[in-house]
Amino acid sequence: MEMRSLFEPRAIAVIGASANPGKIGYRIVENVVRSGYRGGVFPINPRGGEILGLRVYPALAEVEGEVDVAVIAIPAEGVIDAVEACGAHGVKHLVVITSGFSEVGNLEAERRIVRLAREHGMRVLGPNIFGIYSAAGSLDATFGPGGIEPGSVAIVTQSGALGIAMIGKTATESVGLSALVSVGNKADIDEADLIEYLASDDRTRAVLMYIEGVKDGDRLQGILADVTRRKPVVVIKAGRSKRGSMAAASHTGSLAGADEVFDSVMRQSGVLRAESVQEGFSWVRYLASAPLPPGDETVIVTNGGGIGVMATDACEKYGVVLYDDQPVLAETFSGAMPDFGSSKNPVDLTGQATAEDYERALDAVLAEDRMHAAIALYCETALFDTSRFADLLREVYARYRERKPIVFSLFGGGEIEAVIRDLRGEGIPVFGDVYEAVSALGALYRARRRQRARAEPPEAVDLPIAEIRRVLDAARADGRTFLLAPEAAQVAAHLGLDVPRSTLARNLDETVRAAGEIGYPVAMKIVSKDIVHKSDAGGVALDLENEDEVVDAYQAILRSARAHVPDAVIGGVEVAEMVRPGVETIVGARQDPSFGPVVMFGLGGVYVEVMKDVAFRAAPVGRATASEMISDLRSYPILLGVRGESRKDIDAIADVVVKLSHLIDRCREIADIEINPLVVYDRGRGTRTVDMRILIKHPKGVS
Ligand code: ACO
Repeated sequence: MEMRSLFEPRAIAVIGASANPGKIGYRIVENVVRSGYRGGVFPINPRGGEILGLRVYPALAEVEGEVDVAVIAIPAEGVIDAVEACGAHGVKHLVVITSGFSEVGNLEAERRIVRLAREHGMRVLGPNIFGIYSAAGSLDATFGPGGIEPGSVAIVTQSGALGIAMIGKTATESVGLSALVSVGNKADIDEADLIEYLASDDRTRAVLMYIEGVKDGDRLQGILADVTRRKPVVVIKAGRSKRGSMAAASHTGSLAGADEVFDSVMRQSGVLRAESVQEGFSWVRYLASAPLPPGDETVIVTNGGGIGVMATDACEKYGVVLYDDQPVLAETFSGAMPDFGSSKNPVDLTGQATAEDYERALDAVLAEDRMHAAIALYCETALFDTSRFADLLREVYARYRERKPIVFSLFGGGEIEAVIRDLRGEGIPVFGDVYEAVSALGALYRARRRQRARAEPPEAVDLPIAEIRRVLDAARADGRTFLLAPEAAQVAAHLGLDVPRSTLARNLDETVRAAGEIGYPVAMKIVSKDIVHKSDAGGVALDLENEDEVVDAYQAILRSARAHVPDAVIGGVEVAEMVRPGVETIVGARQDPSFGPVVMFGLGGVYVEVMKDVAFRAAPVGRATASEMISDLRSYPILLGVRGESRKDIDAIADVVVKLSHLIDRCREIADIEINPLVVYDRGRGTRTVDMRILIKHPKGVS
C-alpha cells in the first residue's frame, strides 16, 4: 500500500528543524519526539548542533540510511532544492508545511514541486499544511499543540486552523484519533488517497473530512462509495463555489451549483454530510464508539412528556424508527414504571421517576431482543437525586455499550451541566439537546443502512456510440459547439428515445402529404434562418385536426412570416406530430468541473424554475439509482399520481436517465445535454423527447 509509509514511516527527516522554540521547525521535532515515535528522527539544519538531544544534520545527504518521510518547514524559495535533495536520498513522501504556493496564486512553483517529486517516485502531502498525525506510526509530525490521544477517529482536513483546533477539541471531549491529516493545497495527495488508506487501517472506525473544494471528484466518489460500505465517513463542506454554474447554458448547468452536485454525489456515495463542525464532530465521535444497532427498533425513555414528543419529532427528522408493538411495551415495562406512567413509546416514567425507575426502564429496553437502541431523556426534577445519576448512567452504559447503541440527553441546571461535562469527558454519549442526541443516533442508523445495502451491479447499456460520435464529429468539423435540431434528433433516435415525428415540407402539396403521413393532429412551424422567434412572427400553428386546417394554416403562416420579416428566406415549414400533453420533466447530463459526468432529473415548469426540485448523481447510473433519483424529488407524488390522476411511467423515465448518464460518461466531448421537456404519460405509455439540446466541447479543447 503506497500510503503506508506516510503513516508508518521507518525514519523521518525534518528539514528546517530549529533549536528556536518559537519556530515551526522546532515544534515539529518536539511533537515527533513527544509522541513516542520509534523510528529514526533526523533534524536537518545547516547550523548542525542538537535539538532536544537529537543530532542535527547539516544536510539530508549526510544522513545514513533510508528516510521514508521528509517534513519540509523552510521558506518557499528553498523548497524546490529541498525536494531535489529528498529525491536524491530516496525519500518516499514529502510533507510540505510551507505556505506561499497555489493558495496565493503561485501555481507554477507548486506544480514544479509535484513534477520533481513524481520524477523521483515521491508523493507530496500539501503544501500549506500543519502536518500529519498517525496513531499507527505513533507519530505526531504536526506543529499543533501535541498531546493527541490515540483512538479510532480519523480526520482529514483542508483547513489547517480547524484541524489544529480539533486537536484541542478531541482532548476536552476525550476523542482518540487514529489519524489527523492536513491536506492543504492538495497538489498531489488528496482525500481519495488518504481515505483509501484509512479504509484499510484497523484502528480507524470512522472518518471525518473537512472539504472546501474537490479536485478529482470522479475518483473520490468511487473510493467513497466503496469505503462507506465498511466504515462511516462524515463530511463537512464549506465554500459554496460558483464554479459549477459558470458554464450555465442550461438548466442542468445553472442548477448544478457546485454545492448541489456535491451534496447529491456525497449522498450517492453513502457519505454523511454534517451541517456544522459541531454536528460533524458529534457524529463521528458517536459513530466511532457505538456498536451498529442489531435492528431498527428504538425506544425512548423519558421523565418528561414534552421532551419525549420532541425526541419523537427528531426521530422522524433523522430517520430513527420507533418501536410500536404496544402489548410488548406494556409487558416489558409492567414492573419498571409507576402506575400512572405511559408504556407507549416514548415511555414516560413521569416527573416522579427516581434514579432506580430509570435504571429499571433502561435495563428493560436494552435487555429485550426486540428493541435495538435506546434514547434516554432526562429533565431535571426536584424529586430526583442527581448525585446518583452520573453513576447510574455510567453503569447502564458500561453494561450495554458493546451490544446496543444508547444516547442520553440531559437538560437542567448547573449540576446537570456538570454531569454532562464529566460523562462526555469519559467518552459516554451524553448530549445537552434532544435533537443533537437523536441526530447522532440517526447518523449511526444511516451508516448501518449503507453497510447493509448491496452495491448496485454495473449495468451494461448498449448504446451506438460510434454512430452518435459521427453526428458529434460532423458538428465539430463545422466549428460548432452545439448540435442543430436535426442532429440532436438523430442522437435522440440513436439513443432509442421516442422523438415526435416531423418532416420538412417545401410547398403546400408536400405539407398536406406530410400531415397525412404523420397523422392528425399536427403542428406546423416556419423554417427560416432569418426568423428566430417563430411564434412572434406568426410562424407556428398547433393542433391542426384535418387537411382543411393544414391548408389554411400553411397560407396564414407564410403570409404572416412575410409580413413580419419581409426579406426572410423561407425554407418551408416543419410539419410535426402534435405531442399529447402529459407531465413535463427535464433530464440533463453534463461534465461537472469537480465530479466529471453527472446526470440530473427534475419536473419541468415551476418545479425546476422556482423550487429547484432536482436530483443529481455521478454518472453513469443503473436503474436502481435512476429510480431513487426520481423518488428523491419533493414533487415525486405528482408522478405517483395525486388527486385521482393515475401513476406516470416512472420506469420509462428511469430508462431515459440511465441512457443519458451512460452517454455523458462515454462521450466526454459532450459538455451538456438536456431533454426539456421529456413528456411523461401514464404507466406503460412511455415518454416523448420533445426537445433535446446538446452542447459539445470546443474542438480545440478536446484531444
Ligand atoms: N535546509 C535546512 N534548514 C533550513 C534550510 C534548508 N534548506 N533553509 C533554512 N533552514 C532553516 C533556517 O535556518 C531556520 O533555522 P534556524 O531557526 O536555526 O535559523 C529554519 O530552517 C526555518 O527557517 P526560517 O527561515 O526561520 O523560516 P520560518 O521558520 O520563519 O518559516 C515556514 C518557515 C514555517 C515554513 C514558513 O515559510 C511558512 O510557510 N509558514 C506558514 C506555515 C503554515 O501556516 N502552513 C499551513 C498550516 S495550516 C494553518 O493554517 C494552521
